[in-house]
Parts: sequence; structure tokens; C-alpha cells
Amino acid sequence: MTGRGVRQRHIPVLLEEVLKGLGIREGGVYLDATVGEGGHSLEILRRSARAQVIGIDQDPEALASAGAALGEFGQRVRLCRRNFRYMGEVVQEMGVPAVDGILLDLGVSSLQLDLSERGFSFSQDGPLDMRMDPDGALTAGMIVNSYSEEDLARIISTYGEERLSRRIAQAIAQERSKNPITTTAGLAVIVSRVPGMSRVKSIHPATRTFQALRIEVNDELNALREALVSGIGLLVPGGRMAVISFHSLEDRIVKRTFRRMADPCECPPDFPMCVCGALPMGSVRTRRPIIPGESERRDNPRSRSARLRIFERAPRA
Ligand SMILES: C[S@@+](CC[C@H](N)C(=O)[O-])C[C@H]1O[C@@H](n2cnc3c(N)ncnc32)[C@H](O)[C@@H]1O
Repeated sequence: MTGRGVRQRHIPVLLEEVLKGLGIREGGVYLDATVGEGGHSLEILRRSARAQVIGIDQDPEALASAGAALGEFGQRVRLCRRNFRYMGEVVQEMGVPAVDGILLDLGVSSLQLDLSERGFSFSQDGPLDMRMDPDGALTAGMIVNSYSEEDLARIISTYGEERLSRRIAQAIAQERSKNPITTTAGLAVIVSRVPGMSRVKSIHPATRTFQALRIEVNDELNALREALVSGIGLLVPGGRMAVISFHSLEDRIVKRTFRRMADPCECPPDFPMCVCGALPMGSVRTRRPIIPGESERRDNPRSRSARLRIFERAPRA
């Protein structure tokens, strides 16, 4: 649906798996770094009568929605509008020395996707925006209309893993030389018409290009890298971080960062013992990512590409 009419609330993805993975403790403090509409936080607060939640989101509309959903819990909830890459500052400002668990449920929420004016969706027409933080300096329209053709191709290839990135960049450059490209529907049509564009029924041809633009607009991968490292440092001994990713670029970063934090030794493999002195921060709890079961995939199509990984801080790291 378009505009601001009645819409379905965001359904939290892998909810039971996240709660189990975080190992919610009575009276624990949980940092929901992507609080969104508060779906996961609501269940943390319901299931543990004394648990507290610190909720972060860079989108003021998401934060307002979380505030309404979690209002009944009063002082057990503290919300903050910030990019999660600064989660260390947020907890410090709140006077919280460490947290028992952290959740990162990456990507956009249904709230953002469903509002055409936010410009995230190719299935509804809206301005080419895609900013999660509406005060952010860069919009998708600025990228599409001002980046060089080479830079466009690079972004679409790297962040969209799109095989036809050069052709798409060329088509965009041709089109914008006539008129600026200003709408999501306009861009979707340009991409769809690129010769050779795959017609996989379940995936819109512009999916990968839109993903690439969104990642660039919000600097998503760098924010994720920073949040993973600083977040693990904020955990109490035995505390856990749960991360849900929605595409392979994110999942790869999570997998590699967790692995490096669990085994940071940089000594050459033929050294008989470690001399670099780097100590593991903890261990990876998920050898393979946890994925949604059949019924969740059926009931919530947005969950289909979700992958959950869990890291546990060492008992005395
Ligand atoms: C998938 S939604 C979270 C949904 C939430 N778990 C729920 O159940 O309602 C992701 C949210 O994270 C926010 N977000 C994504 N990247 C962020 C970042 N770098 N800093 C802060 N918030 C971010 C988005 O604005 C969005 O509201």
C-alpha cells in the first residue's frame, strides 16, 4: 500500500530463535540496536519481568512507533535516536557499563518499505530517497543523478552483486542526460529495460540495484562492521550478540567478524604457538546460520532471506 493509510505492523523475524539465542536473563539489560517497531523488544520485556531494553534506531518514525509499542513498560525502556555504529556512546551516556545482550536485526522495516514517500520500494512510486535517517546528507536521487557512470557501475556491482552493473549504469547515464531520474518507479523501469536483465519470477529485476543504492545511501556495511566490534566489547562476560542479516554481503561480514573476534591470532600458521598475544573475545555459538522454518517463511515473506548468527562473550574476557 502507498502513503500513510492502514498498514500491517512489522512482524519480528526469527523471534523465538533470537530470544533463545540471546538467553534472556531475569533483570538483564538488552540493547536492541535496531528497535524498529519494537517487535523483538516487546517480547524480551514480556518474558522477563525485570529485564530492561535500550532501543536504538536512526529513523525517528521507527522510534516513535517503538515508543508507542513499548510505552506500557515505562522506565524499563530507554530509546535513543542514533546510528548503531555509535552504540558505545549511547550506553555510556546512559551510564550503563555493560549489557547482557545485543540484537541487530538489519535492513529496513515494513514501516519504511510500506511508506512510498521514503523511497525504498520499487513496487510503489515515490521519490528516490532511501535514507533511514531523514537528516542524512545523501539520497538515492543524488547518487543516481550525480555519480559518474563508473562509480554507479562499481556500487551496483559491489553492493548489489549485480552481474549487469555496467549496462545498468550506462542506461542510467543515458536516461539522466535527457532528464533527471527522480522516482523509484522511473528507476525501476530503466533497470528493467536493460537488455539481458534476468526475469526470475520471484525477484524484481531492480532488486539488486535498489539494494546497492540503499547500502550506499546509509553506509550500511561500514556501520555494521563498526557495530559488531564495538558491540562485542560492550557485552558482560557470557553476554550474547544476535545478528539477523538479509543478504550475503551482510552475512559474510557478520560471519567473518565473529570468526575473527573468536580467533584473533595473527601468527603465521606454521608457528608452533601463538606469539602475537591476541586474545579471543568469545566464541561463535552458530556454526551455521539459523534460518526461518517453513511456516515462518510462508507466513512472513520478508523472513525468507533471514540468517541469524550468535556470538557469546568469553566468561572472563
Ligand atoms: C528490520 S527493522 C527492525 C525491526 C524490529 N526488530 C522489530 O521487530 O520491530 C531495522 C531497523 O533498524 C534501523 N536501522 C538500520 N540500520 C541502522 C543503523 N545503522 N543505525 C540505527 N538504526 C538502523 C532501521 O531504521 C529499521 O527501523
